[in-house]
Amino acid sequence: MSKKGTYVAAEDRYEKMNYRRTGNSGLLLPELSLGLWHNFGEKDDFKNARNLLKCAFDNGITHFDLANNYGPPYGSAETTFGKILKKDFKKYRDELIISSKAGYDMWLGPYGNYGSKKYLISSLDQSLKRMNLDYVDIFYHHRPDENTPLEETMGALDLIVKQGKALYIGLSNYRPERAEKAFKILKDLGTPCLIHQPRYSLFDRWIEDGLLDLLGKSKVGAICFSPLAQGMLTDKYINGLPKDSRAIKDGRYLKTDKVLEMLPKIKALNEIAKNRNQNLAQMAISWILKDDRITSVLIGASKTSQIIDSIKATENTYFSEEELVNINTVLN
Ligand SMILES: NC(=O)c1ccc[n+]([C@@H]2O[C@H](COP(=O)([O-])OP(=O)(O)OC[C@H]3O[C@@H](n4cnc5c(N)ncnc54)[C@H](OP(=O)(O)O)[C@@H]3O)[C@@H](O)[C@H]2O)c1
Repeated sequence: MSKKGTYVAAEDRYEKMNYRRTGNSGLLLPELSLGLWHNFGEKDDFKNARNLLKCAFDNGITHFDLANNYGPPYGSAETTFGKILKKDFKKYRDELIISSKAGYDMWLGPYGNYGSKKYLISSLDQSLKRMNLDYVDIFYHHRPDENTPLEETMGALDLIVKQGKALYIGLSNYRPERAEKAFKILKDLGTPCLIHQPRYSLFDRWIEDGLLDLLGKSKVGAICFSPLAQGMLTDKYINGLPKDSRAIKDGRYLKTDKVLEMLPKIKALNEIAKNRNQNLAQMAISWILKDDRITSVLIGASKTSQIIDSIKATENTYFSEEELVNINTVLN
C-alpha cells in the first residue's frame, strides 16, 4: 500500500506461485486461480472482496474467474469486480487473466439462457459493461445446451474472439463426447478451445472417466472448480457447523445435510492429510495438482487467510502409492 492508500502489488508476487501452460497454447496460468462465485455479491462486504483480490494477486494469483450470473443478484459480482479493478488494478490489467461465462439463466425471456448466438453475444456485452472492460481474456460457454446446434454456439464463441471481445474461448461442464465435437468445430473455425472448466475434487471424480484423457490428448487445458467441494474438504466442519461457513450462511448450493453425510469421510481424509504434514484443504488441492494435465485449481475464499493457507498446497503435490490407496479406500 502506498501513502495515499493506493494499492501497490507485492514486488515478489511472481516468486510465490508456479505457472502451468494451458494445453498447447501460449498462455500460462497460476496453479491456483480465484473464483468470484461467492463473497462478491451486492450484500457482501466490499472491503473484504477488495482484500481477497489484493491478497490473491500479491501471492501470484493472476487469474480471476467470473460469470454473468455470479452475485447475488445476478451480475453483481462483475459489478463489484469492475469497481475493484478501477480502484486497485487499473495499472495491472495486463498482468491479469479475467474470465466470464454465459450459459445459465441470466435475464427473463427466451434470449437470457442456454447457448444461442443471441444470448452469448448480448451477455458478454453486458458483462464487459459491468466490469468496464474492453475485452475478457477467456470467455466460456458455461454449460452444454442440447437444443442449440453446436455449430451455432461455437460460431458465436469464434465471432466473439474475432470481434476482439475475448482473447480465448473455454467450455465448462461439457461431457467428453460433446466436448470433442466442439473442439473440432472450434479448431476448424480457427479459434481452438483454450481450456475446459469442470467440477473436480476428491468428492467428485467424474472427469477421470474420459474427460481428462480427452483434454490430455487434445492438448486443451483444464481448470477445476470447487476443488474443496465448497469447503467440505477442509477441517472447518469437523467440530460442528461454524456460523460463518458457506453451509450456514448461504445454503443455496451447499446443504448442511450433505456436510453431515460426508463427515465420516472428511474426518478420515483429515487424518491422511495430517500424516502428509498438510491440512485437508491443502491435501485436496495438491491431490488435483498431482496430474500434469491440470492447468489450474480454481478456488473460492471468504477470508484472505484461506487463500494464503490454500497456496501452501503447491509446495507438495507428490503422493506415494500408499497415500493414494489410503485415500481411495476412504472414498470407496
Ligand atoms: N463453471 C461452473 O459451472 C462453476 C460452478 C461453480 C464454481 N465455479 C468457479 O469455481 C470457483 C470456486 O468454487 P467454490 O467456491 O465452490 O470452490 P471451493 O474452493 O471448493 O470452495 C470455496 C470455499 O471453501 C472454503 N475455503 C476455501 N479455502 C479454505 C481453506 N484454506 N480453509 C478452510 N476453508 C476454505 C470457503 O468457504 P466458507 O465460506 O465456508 O469460508 C470458500 O468460500 C467459483 O468462484 C467459480 O469461479 C464454476
